[in-house]
Amino acid sequence: MLLVTGGNGQLGSVLKQLLPEAMFTSASELDITDASAVTSFVTLHKIDTVINCAAYTHVDKAEEESQRAFLINAEGPKNLALTGVKIIHVSTDYVFDGHSKNPYLEEDTAIPQSVYGRSKLAGEEAVMNHASAAIIIRTSWLYSMYGSNFVKTIRTLAMERDVLNVVSDQIGSPTYAYDLAQVIVRLLPTLQKNIQQVYHYSNEGACSWYEFAKEIVQQCNLPCQINPIESKDYPSNAVRPSYAVMNTSKIKSHLGIDIPHWKESLKQCLNQF
Ligand SMILES: NC(=O)c1ccc[n+]([C@@H]2O[C@H](COP(=O)([O-])OP(=O)(O)OC[C@H]3O[C@@H](n4cnc5c(N)ncnc54)[C@H](OP(=O)(O)O)[C@@H]3O)[C@@H](O)[C@H]2O)c1
Repeated sequence: MLLVTGGNGQLGSVLKQLLPEAMFTSASELDITDASAVTSFVTLHKIDTVINCAAYTHVDKAEEESQRAFLINAEGPKNLALTGVKIIHVSTDYVFDGHSKNPYLEEDTAIPQSVYGRSKLAGEEAVMNHASAAIIIRTSWLYSMYGSNFVKTIRTLAMERDVLNVVSDQIGSPTYAYDLAQVIVRLLPTLQKNIQQVYHYSNEGACSWYEFAKEIVQQCNLPCQINPIESKDYPSNAVRPSYAVMNTSKIKSHLGIDIPHWKESLKQCLNQF
């Protein structure tokens, strides 16, 4: 039996559409930080494979809730891995420091700059240390019609305001959760015993948050003006990488896929609203 944890999150909600036979759990149904609950659940439901979409994703709040972030993002995946299941674990571009000039490769050294990034890296390490079959998939700037995300926030704010200031000195690649979910489903059959792989997946192309916001407003035909600002003028608790683009060649060649450009996938997502 296949289990998807974090079933009510953005990615979990999209996977629900693609994997009707899998089990999906929310935090209240299965708290992944509770080791004995995880073991009992896996045994009771004969779970052999887990897609772990459960995570602490509040990047700024994590700076003040470090213990909780590590509990969910590191202990949680460790508890799952220790049960002996095969696991696809979702991680983040925020494990990198952002000082690179070229898209990050899977084997590049991860030097996270925030509590969130460090807790996610600790989760990757726990999975690699304890699961005999593990795929880590790092993604970035995830959005969908579910939960809260940048696309929904900008769309809502642009309906209410004439002008928005958006950071233009952080570069990354938006990822439509539906595209990522399809790739995860395609990875499932390759998840065999003794496999340990890391892959990067985001949509094709790169942009700043400012360019992303401009495209959202344009595709929604909203009259709101978007102004570029620097990160230093938009103080936040967590340090975010200024360049977080990931090289996706490995997954493209492994699965023999083309990845849609982020502007194309944004259109697909906005059509759902
Ligand atoms: N969002 C992004 O921009 C982004 C970027 C890069 C990587 N990622 C990674 O992508 C993955 C999916 O992200 P997402 O945006 O889908 O996250 P999300 O919408 O915040 O969903 C995370 C889910 O985790 C569940 N959860 C929290 N604590 C839990 C616990 N102790 N036990 C079990 N479940 C728990 C929550 O469940 P309840 O709803 O039931 O409370 C929530 O639905 C995460 O690993 C995240 O780190 C996200």
